Amino acid sequence: MSSPGLDLPERPARPDDLAACTRLWDVAIGDYVRRLNQPWFPGELAPLERLLGHLLTTDPDLFRVATRPGSDEPVAFVSANRRGATWFLSMLFVDPALQREGVGRRLLERVLPPPGERQGIALGTATDSAQPISNGLYATYGIVPRMPVWRLVGRPERHDALERLPADVDVELLAAATEAPDAVHALDRVVVGHERRPDHAFLLAERRLLAIYWRDGQPVGYGYASPSGRFGPMAALDASLLAPIGAHLLSLFEAPGAFAAWVPGAAGPLTTMLLRAGFRFDPFPMLLCWSGPLADLERYVPISGALI
Ligand SMILES: CC(C)(COP(=O)(O)OP(=O)(O)OC[C@H]1O[C@@H](n2cnc3c(N)ncnc32)[C@H](O)[C@@H]1OP(=O)(O)O)[C@@H](O)C(=O)NCCC(=O)NCCS
Repeated sequence: MSSPGLDLPERPARPDDLAACTRLWDVAIGDYVRRLNQPWFPGELAPLERLLGHLLTTDPDLFRVATRPGSDEPVAFVSANRRGATWFLSMLFVDPALQREGVGRRLLERVLPPPGERQGIALGTATDSAQPISNGLYATYGIVPRMPVWRLVGRPERHDALERLPADVDVELLAAATEAPDAVHALDRVVVGHERRPDHAFLLAERRLLAIYWRDGQPVGYGYASPSGRFGPMAALDASLLAPIGAHLLSLFEAPGAFAAWVPGAAGPLTTMLLRAGFRFDPFPMLLCWSGPLADLERYVPISGALI
């Protein structure tokens, strides 16, 4: 696609851009969320800055900033990641004063695989369903919104609604690991379609607790839980195990406030279980968008909207 409009200088991102990119994320989301008359509480921004640092480390060529002419300060940034045959757009944010001028499209085109090299690559991203600009922009490249991913928030108040792990499934907890064991990568190859060792190392460095589920000596699932209440990602060899894994993760911590997970619509039994147990949907879901198949979403809960 052609990119008319505002042609700002751009360059690869550097570690000293990450604070400015984090601010742009906050300002750009706050701008459209407030226009929808919704409250915007970005929360603690340090974890986001660490996530951007992780993405800059794993995919430095796919992280770029646009700057104001005559200044080195980023006014827009894009970050994508490549894992196996999946190309995933993590973030694209433009200063609200400069939106709708072609800056986002131009940055996106700089990090998309060249058109002649997209054969066999699944392009994907997660968008905010309340944001037609991003959904429309990505869909012009075949990255079409196809599935809601709801943020489910709450506390398990009705414990009888929670599914139990089958009696023949054993749990292994890894609290202080710095690298995920091979069992996790084997599950990723089947359920996600590729390994992503650096992403697991990042989750463990973020002090999330990893649980691996075994049956007859074989890994059949894994999941992460955090004392902050966040649970996921989760993967299960058999789709029927995803809900019991989610329920088990809830038992690992007493969350200070509420628990929260991003659950794809395809993971129906997990969604139903959490709602029956007392969880609630956030007002707008994310939309998972793709040009070709991503992970098997009946058996998988993604890391976040930035990392499938
Ligand atoms: C989304 C965002 C990155 C896009 O960047 P931008 O520089 O504003 O967008 P561009 O001018 O490059 O592209 C706009 C495109 O959006 C699409 N678009 C806009 N409104 C649309 C609508 N109502 N329906 C469908 N498509 C629409 C069109 O494809 C348009 O391209 P065109 O003008 O060539 O037809 C930017 O607006 C932004 O930062 N928004 C707030 C934060 C955000 O939502 N980020 C993405 C998170 S998923």
